[in-house]
Amino acid sequence: MDCEIRPCRIEEAKQLEEIEQRCFLLERIGLRQFRYLQRSQSATVLVAAQAEQILGYGVVLRRCNSKIARVYALAVDLPFQRMGVGQSLLNALEQQALSWGAHNIRLEVHQANYGAQKLYLDSGYLEFARLPYYYTDLCSAIRMEKSLIRGGSL
Ligand SMILES: CC(C)(COP(=O)(O)OP(=O)(O)OC[C@H]1O[C@@H](n2cnc3c(N)ncnc32)[C@H](O)[C@@H]1OP(=O)(O)O)[C@@H](O)C(=O)NCCC(=O)NCCS
Repeated sequence: MDCEIRPCRIEEAKQLEEIEQRCFLLERIGLRQFRYLQRSQSATVLVAAQAEQILGYGVVLRRCNSKIARVYALAVDLPFQRMGVGQSLLNALEQQALSWGAHNIRLEVHQANYGAQKLYLDSGYLEFARLPYYYTDLCSAIRMEKSLIRGGSL
């Protein structure tokens, strides 16, 4: 699907919160947190957009003195899923991490979120750990990592 990937504008935080509400039942990012992330020097919030319509968003974090970046959030609004938007956002988050000098990128995914797991596996992420009882429904998080400088292999 044709869309532009660009930094989120301050006034768009509310739309991100609305997408978050539609996409997740648990552990939602709230409006204040989106605004905090937008202002943070350690985060980049990107959106996939068509004109004024936000299709999805992603957040990548960096840490001081670390070569490992973290995909903190990724979501595509329901009507626009399975059209390549999530993949485009993920690619852009990885490019952002590379521009910071990151060598690797990590994320967590719910053990039952098979769609997202497939996206990450197909994009070169590998499971390296599980965090039991990570989510409020007591399910585990799968921790995944990708090398940004070695074509995926860790
Ligand atoms: C997971 C998510 C970000 C994927 O975004 P998307 O735009 O729908 O995904 P894409 O169209 O870019 O998919 C690329 C590939 O990933 C895999 N994939 C994505 N969603 C899938 C699903 N629900 N089931 C199976 N495979 C899936 C497929 O291999 C797909 O390629 P294909 O459509 O040619 O088969 C999106 O479904 C979403 O926002 N889900 C709800 C929130 C969420 O779970 N976020 C991730 C938290 S870790």
